[in-house]
Amino acid sequence: MRFHIKHVIVVFILISFILWASHVYIDNLQRNRQLERSQSIENKVNEWLDHREHKDHHFRFDKLGPDLKYKTDINDADNTDKLLSVPRLWQYCNPPVKAVTGDEGEVSPEYRLEMVHVLIRHGDRTPMHTMKGLPTVKINCNLDKLSLTNSKLQNFASKIKDSLQRHKESDFKNWDLYPDEEYCTGSQLTGTGIHQHILNGEHLGFKFFRKWELLSSNFSSDDILVKSTEYSRTFQSAIAFMYGFLPQFSLNKLIIKKSSNLYFCSKSSGFVCFCPQANLAKQMADNFNSKLSHNSSKHQNLIKQLADIYNTKPSHIPWLSAVADIIMANVCHEFKLPCNDAGQCADQNLLINIWKVIDNESLISKTKNHVFIKFSHLIMHPFLVQIAHQMKSVVLANKSVPKFVLYSGHDVTMTPLLVALGISDGLWPSYASRLVIEFYSRVVTQKKIHYFIRILYNGLDMTRQLPFCRTVINGLCKFIHFIHFIDTHLKPYNVTSYNRYCYSETN
Ligand SMILES: *[C@@H]1O[C@H](CO)[C@@H](O)[C@H](O)[C@H]1NC(C)=O
Ligand SMILES: *[C@@H]1O[C@H](CO)[C@@H](O)[C@H](O)[C@H]1NC(C)=O
Ligand SMILES: *[C@@H]1O[C@H](CO)[C@@H](O)[C@H](O)[C@H]1NC(C)=O
Ligand SMILES: *[C@@H]1O[C@H](CO)[C@@H](O)[C@H](O)[C@H]1NC(C)=O
Ligand SMILES: *[C@@H]1O[C@H](CO)[C@@H](O)[C@H](O)[C@H]1NC(C)=O
Repeated sequence: MRFHIKHVIVVFILISFILWASHVYIDNLQRNRQLERSQSIENKVNEWLDHREHKDHHFRFDKLGPDLKYKTDINDADNTDKLLSVPRLWQYCNPPVKAVTGDEGEVSPEYRLEMVHVLIRHGDRTPMHTMKGLPTVKINCNLDKLSLTNSKLQNFASKIKDSLQRHKESDFKNWDLYPDEEYCTGSQLTGTGIHQHILNGEHLGFKFFRKWELLSSNFSSDDILVKSTEYSRTFQSAIAFMYGFLPQFSLNKLIIKKSSNLYFCSKSSGFVCFCPQANLAKQMADNFNSKLSHNSSKHQNLIKQLADIYNTKPSHIPWLSAVADIIMANVCHEFKLPCNDAGQCADQNLLINIWKVIDNESLISKTKNHVFIKFSHLIMHPFLVQIAHQMKSVVLANKSVPKFVLYSGHDVTMTPLLVALGISDGLWPSYASRLVIEFYSRVVTQKKIHYFIRILYNGLDMTRQLPFCRTVINGLCKFIHFIHFIDTHLKPYNVTSYNRYCYSETN
């Protein structure tokens, strides 16, 4: 009898083990498939770029000819694979499939890194817009489920949950540190978005912590400042970034401040953060943009095609980039393009034509339209002055300034900053884009120290393109040029006092 029960138990254990092992096996298989799949997409893009001899490790988009960016001639891929192989779509989605690379911190060791400011756009999110008749995809927003196939997210989840940290000092003390619902709601950061910023943080952490030792491992909470706009997607992007950035993530060591405006103007700077003259310029720029799209037959044709597919009136179609915003969730998450009730779907050509028109109009309206340029200079002025002020504090040996500042914002923050600095390529900033401003010193003689800046966008060194850096030495721009730029960039608009100008009569 006893003997018999032992047998049953052994058989039972054996069966459980086999079930468990096959489960693990299938899990791994799925994980590997997913990995292979994203690697194969990436390889295809690289192969395709190699084929045209345009590839380098930063995926230099600006080197591609105007039509190559939208080209899709990879034959052996199925429809969804093909979509992410289109360089323009790949660039916008910015899939987190490999470590981030870039030239941040690539400066010769006789210099000393003193301070870094980083502006990020939040990571991948669900669409902000909706359109009647155009279905939106359901995207998984449960970190535990997402962790099953992604070890980065798994480690992130366990670290964040494990400590259940939520510090009392923070402006965001009751905010969720990561999205945690079965499906994402609108405008919500996704697992992909978290992953993108973990990778950004790891890359910059390697450059600034490991390579430059900007901060010692026992840095104090005053050494780092994090600012975020008041949206869950920007706050959670900042958390993911700092998790990747810090050698040991600890929320209690972070000061996280809320920015009540999209442009990181802080009232303590003495500037007015609401500027009616800037708003006026923005309105004029928006009017110009809507005229531009009304005048364009290509634009209007696309609106008609979309209205036909999704059984609605052209007047019910939101602006084109809002439609792209909805459809790109399908592309970035590798779903098929959205279909109408009758099963008729948007096709690849339509999507590519939408992007051609968006890029074309964006180039004109962001880099050639003087009212948008004026808006950019005005709205980013307080931010630029603050950065320069903190750098000046380093020069004056004032220790009470942070060495690393992260600003977690939006495309509408990134674009005017790039435009004001004179380095915008006119393209809609990709998810998880980053702008890095590095501040260096160099000891010349015992009494003389020189200061320099360097500016990089998505890992590309833009310093030589800065219109205000008349001379670039060893890849660095003299700090005085930067100061001079900030002191004078509003002169063309006859601004003598920013605050007074903002409230001056509009005619
Ligand atoms: C960090 O540690 C070093 C020595 O390991 C010490 O000299 C320094 O003062 C410490 N800094 C802080 C902020 O505690
Ligand atoms: C739109 O077309 C009208 C008439 O051809 C032209 O006067 C106007 O400048 C155009 N506007 C833009 C923004 O292209
Ligand atoms: C780009 O814009 C210019 C000027 O508005 C226009 O002539 C051209 O047809 C546009 N191209 C596309 C692809 O929309
Ligand atoms: C140092 O910087 C802090 C913060 O910006 C400021 O309050 C203080 O007045 C500065 N001290 C000097 C001596 O400049
Ligand atoms: C700035 O002022 C000068 C002289 O008063 C004037 O000629 C010029 O048109 C003004 N510029 C702007 C952009 O208002």
